[in-house]
Amino acid sequence: MKFQTAFATLLAALTLVDASANPSGDRPHHGIKRPNIIYILSDDHDHTTATSEYMPETYKHLVSHGRRYSHFYTPMSVCCPSRAGFFRSQHGHNHGILDVQGPLGGFDVFWNRGYQDDNLGVWLRQAGYKTYYTGKLMNGNTVANAQSKPTTKLFDQSAILLDPYTYTYLNSSLSWNGQAPESYPGNYSTDLIRDVGLQYLDEAAQSEEPFFLGIAPIGPHSVVEPSSPGFTNALPAARHKGLYNGTIIPRTANFNPDVPSGANFVRNYEKLNETVLDYVDEWHRDRLRALRSVDDLVGAVIERVRKLNLLDDTYIVYTSDNGFSTGGQHRRPPGKCLGYEEDIRVPAFIRGPGIQAGSWNNEAWSNIDLSASFAEVADATRHASYALDGRVMDWVRPHERGDKEQRELIDEQLPSREAHSERLNKTSLPSSATTHHLSEYWVKNYVEGIYAGNQSTSKYKTLRVRESGGKGAAGRHDWTYTVWCNGERELYDMAKDEYQMNNLLGTSNNFVPLNGTAHKSHRIATRLDALLLSLKRCVGQECRQTWETLFPKGQVASLEQALHKRYDDYFQQLPRVHYDDCEIGFDAAKEQSDWSEELQWGA
Ligand SMILES: *[C@@H]1O[C@H](CO)[C@@H](O)[C@H](O)[C@H]1NC(C)=O
Ligand SMILES: *[C@@H]1O[C@H](CO)[C@@H](O)[C@H](O)[C@H]1NC(C)=O
Ligand SMILES: *[C@@H]1O[C@H](CO)[C@@H](O)[C@H](O)[C@H]1NC(C)=O
Ligand SMILES: *[C@@H]1O[C@H](CO)[C@@H](O)[C@H](O)[C@H]1NC(C)=O
Ligand SMILES: *[C@@H]1O[C@H](CO)[C@@H](O)[C@H](O)[C@H]1NC(C)=O
Ligand SMILES: *[C@@H]1O[C@H](CO)[C@@H](O)[C@H](O)[C@H]1NC(C)=O
Repeated sequence: MKFQTAFATLLAALTLVDASANPSGDRPHHGIKRPNIIYILSDDHDHTTATSEYMPETYKHLVSHGRRYSHFYTPMSVCCPSRAGFFRSQHGHNHGILDVQGPLGGFDVFWNRGYQDDNLGVWLRQAGYKTYYTGKLMNGNTVANAQSKPTTKLFDQSAILLDPYTYTYLNSSLSWNGQAPESYPGNYSTDLIRDVGLQYLDEAAQSEEPFFLGIAPIGPHSVVEPSSPGFTNALPAARHKGLYNGTIIPRTANFNPDVPSGANFVRNYEKLNETVLDYVDEWHRDRLRALRSVDDLVGAVIERVRKLNLLDDTYIVYTSDNGFSTGGQHRRPPGKCLGYEEDIRVPAFIRGPGIQAGSWNNEAWSNIDLSASFAEVADATRHASYALDGRVMDWVRPHERGDKEQRELIDEQLPSREAHSERLNKTSLPSSATTHHLSEYWVKNYVEGIYAGNQSTSKYKTLRVRESGGKGAAGRHDWTYTVWCNGERELYDMAKDEYQMNNLLGTSNNFVPLNGTAHKSHRIATRLDALLLSLKRCVGQECRQTWETLFPKGQVASLEQALHKRYDDYFQQLPRVHYDDCEIGFDAAKEQSDWSEELQWGA
């Protein structure tokens, strides 16, 4: 029976079921077969190369049957912090995993904070899911700690790639269920993870219980050899070596521009010469080639789901932990960790029961929303000991679940449920409601390749705001607003300047105060700064709402409304987002002021 049909039948039955018959709430689904979840996560895959040319299998099996999220982001643009955020559905300022390695990050910090007992994997298990995970979990899962910090805490079955061999591509080490490492010399990493994933899928299909299967290949990440520090070109599988010989990095408006662009240390990058351009173009081609194995993996997994007759019961997601600047954008070396669109925006495709084939969603979402959605669709959210920062996404159908008690619990966590329900199955924004995304960073940026130069401290907060022109609204808004630790600000009108070349707050180091009653760009910036102020220390519900924190009575629900003259003075007098210095790490006391209720409109 198809999932939807089964659901309709059960929904009818549910109205006859007495919710009080199940006071413990342990099995609120009354025997509903909850959907399986397959989560395919690649490593460092930017959104620009997630096209049908470079991912033919993914388009054939996933995109054309599902929904494409055009503006899907990571709250922290580097592997381990992004993944920790996903598993906790939390922003960096709440989970505190700031780096890929010690002392400020890595799997050791995740473990030492006790997160191994309180994350998506655990909640799903507690909710009765069988859970499987293979590939890269986090940086800092190592041959040394695989047994002492076993991933059996997180998953029923796991085969985890171990440092320092994670990025070798041809000499992977796996720990199976927290056991001693096993070496796979000669096996191409992405294919190895594909095969383990298929094996887990076969096993999961035998189970009565719904399952979660995470498959996380390292492609198209660069190579890091244990013997020689530093990053080199991604290594394609032998079958993909000759591909894309003529391809070069797209010469977009921000590619190696004649004038410096961006802010802070980015503006100091020199123009790249032909030697460096040839080098980054080959870097780009090797990434595309390595990506083809990831694409093969996606195709093989979905083909197997089809053969196992599970397509109607299974949500399948493809996304990546963070984006990537292939090199050249704003004259940069290859790398990530900044707030520019290349670094924070990632592909996100979802197919599954109830999702219209070939549909689009243009709102701003992020990976913490995805994990909140997985928890929601699995009835697992109640097992979290804290309020999740992530919003439940449009593909989750909140009515597809059990009893009143559970509904109330969910309603309490998601007051904006009506707005959410309204969005269901819409392919674009139905109203002028604002959607937002927050990215943060507090440590050195990781730069790659032989021309990378030194790392710089990349400490900033970036706010993305997207708003459609609903009925009666004057048009859509699409903005990026960044505040750097040194006081610099950037504002880009993404509708006109998607490559972020025209900083509307100035093109040289300028620390001028924002003037909310003067220029249009300053008026917009005061609104965005206020939103950022309300989000920079947000927890749970505060992170999921946009204007409600500032306007709890609902007077303003969109940027368009917030721009009304009557609010000029209000936005002008609010404290600004600020850092005392650019020291590495997150020290809340040095990032005052914070939002408080006294700052609400009309308070
Ligand atoms: C491959 O990895 C193993 C550890 O799993 C290591 O002992 C061996 O030296 C590595 N081989 C090469 C060629 O690097
Ligand atoms: C590793 O590669 C060998 C040779 O191609 C293959 O026979 C084997 O199945 C692979 N192992 C795994 C676990 O995929
Ligand atoms: C691509 O270039 C490589 C190395 O120059 C060559 O061996 C290969 O045949 C070329 N492939 C194609 C499809 O042109
Ligand atoms: C090109 O730039 C790189 C990096 O600055 C430098 O090492 C190299 O010498 C330059 N090559 C030429 C031909 O100028
Ligand atoms: C990079 O760092 C090294 C060591 O701190 C320093 O000597 C060098 O001048 C730096 N290079 C640049 C281009 O800043
Ligand atoms: C802001 O700009 C307006 C209009 O140019 C000016 O009258 C006002 O003095 C400015 N305020 C501040 C605080 O600079």
